[in-house]
Amino acid sequence: MSTINQAAIQEAAAYIRQHSNNINPEIGLILGSGLGVLADLIEDGISIPYHDIPHFPVSTVEGHAGELLLGTVGGRKVMMMKGRFHLYEGYKPELTTFPVRVMKELGVKSMLVTNAAGGVNTSYEAGDLMVISDHLNMTGTNPLMGPNDNALGVRFPDMSEAYSKRLRAVAHEVAQEQGVKLQEGVYAGLLGPNYETPAEIVMLRTLGSDAVGMSTVSEVIVARHAGLEVLGFSCITNMAAGILDQPLDHSEVMETADRVREKFLKLVLGIIPKM
Ligand code: HPA
Repeated sequence: MSTINQAAIQEAAAYIRQHSNNINPEIGLILGSGLGVLADLIEDGISIPYHDIPHFPVSTVEGHAGELLLGTVGGRKVMMMKGRFHLYEGYKPELTTFPVRVMKELGVKSMLVTNAAGGVNTSYEAGDLMVISDHLNMTGTNPLMGPNDNALGVRFPDMSEAYSKRLRAVAHEVAQEQGVKLQEGVYAGLLGPNYETPAEIVMLRTLGSDAVGMSTVSEVIVARHAGLEVLGFSCITNMAAGILDQPLDHSEVMETADRVREKFLKLVLGIIPKM
């Protein structure tokens, strides 16, 4: 039986509302490795540590601080998760996605999610940005497992346009205005925490994926279940295993994320007012 129920969601939302300075967020941001600096650009922002919010999980991974921020970006009220939860940390899938439930409860209508990913498409290069057109859930699990609460969403949610066409078009428009190269492709979300084997990367490419990572799919499944419109980006921080003759390393991921931060941030800031 799922531990995530409406009472827990409402308690977390109530706590946030009490501490939110009357900021009613319309857009939820879940930003992966490297984009946490967007936090500094939030106007009139308030911060709530995850560990103060009832039922919220607390993140453990390097490079992911744990606080919720509310404020204004580009004239839009946002709720930003600074630090996210990964299945490989050992959380149950419904817990990694609990913040998405809370976003919905607080009135959020759309969600922007970013991640660091390995490039599976051999025409990509490290430092590319990719708008996610679709995903493969290769985590072996699902945050909607268990009895369905019809108040949260339907038992069998449609995933035929998990990543909004409208928002993808906005992303391309803004990228073009900014002169930023923007790839579009399919993100394969795996459980991790090990990087993939070269054979797994061949498999993923054969199955139609362009990028691979260890996040995002659970959050997007829950967002769609909850009826949120979704826009997702991958920062291609490295070429996936076996493509280049070199081992993979978390420090390379962080270095590339640092290197492209400015253009990624500018793109996201250009898009938020148009979401
Ligand atoms: N594989 C999985 N996750 C990742 C990678 C990768 O190559 N790069 C950044 N996150």
